[in-house]
Amino acid sequence: MFTENIYCSYGYLWLQRSQIMVVRESQDRPVIPQFYAGREVFITGATGFMGKVLVERLLATCPNIGYLHLLMRTKKDVSPDSRLRELKESKVFDVLRRNNPEQLDKLRIVSGDITKPHLGLSDRFKTDLEKVMMLLLNY
Ligand SMILES: NC(=O)c1ccc[n+]([C@@H]2O[C@H](COP(=O)([O-])OP(=O)(O)OC[C@H]3O[C@@H](n4cnc5c(N)ncnc54)[C@H](OP(=O)(O)O)[C@@H]3O)[C@@H](O)[C@H]2O)c1
Repeated sequence: MFTENIYCSYGYLWLQRSQIMVVRESQDRPVIPQFYAGREVFITGATGFMGKVLVERLLATCPNIGYLHLLMRTKKDVSPDSRLRELKESKVFDVLRRNNPEQLDKLRIVSGDITKPHLGLSDRFKTDLEKVMMLLLNY
């Protein structure tokens, strides 16, 4: 499952079973969009300041990226579903909404809480995450 791969710093550093692989920029082609093509990513902290920027950059610069699974909790009685709708309306996505709105359809909710065992994930969400190839931790 996804727990073996941990990505940090926007695809720059890949820690896998204590090995470190540095993804180097190539002069011939953009490495990051190619790397993320078809890959599904699990992201925590997506509703936060840095998380929104991360999500926007991934969607805007990686046209062929797969689903982004965003861990969200209920906050102030607002459910993850409503929070995702609010997130999509954020100003940070103004350009993306105008130029490439279908990218926002790649955002998927994973209802959970990082302080709970197994991130508070239900079996349903655990199944959704089976295709995830990396984690971006940001909280
Ligand atoms: N802001 C900066 O300029 C900056 C610069 C460099 C590094 N960083 C680092 O980047 C990270 C994020 O910073 P930020 O400014 O984006 O923080 P932030 O705006 O406070 O966002 C924190 C995120 O973590 C989520 N979170 C917190 N507790 C959670 C829980 N129990 N379960 C699920 N999600 C939870 C929050 O979700 P809710 O919306 O549900 O609360 C929110 O999405 C931090 O480690 C920070 O030190 C920040």
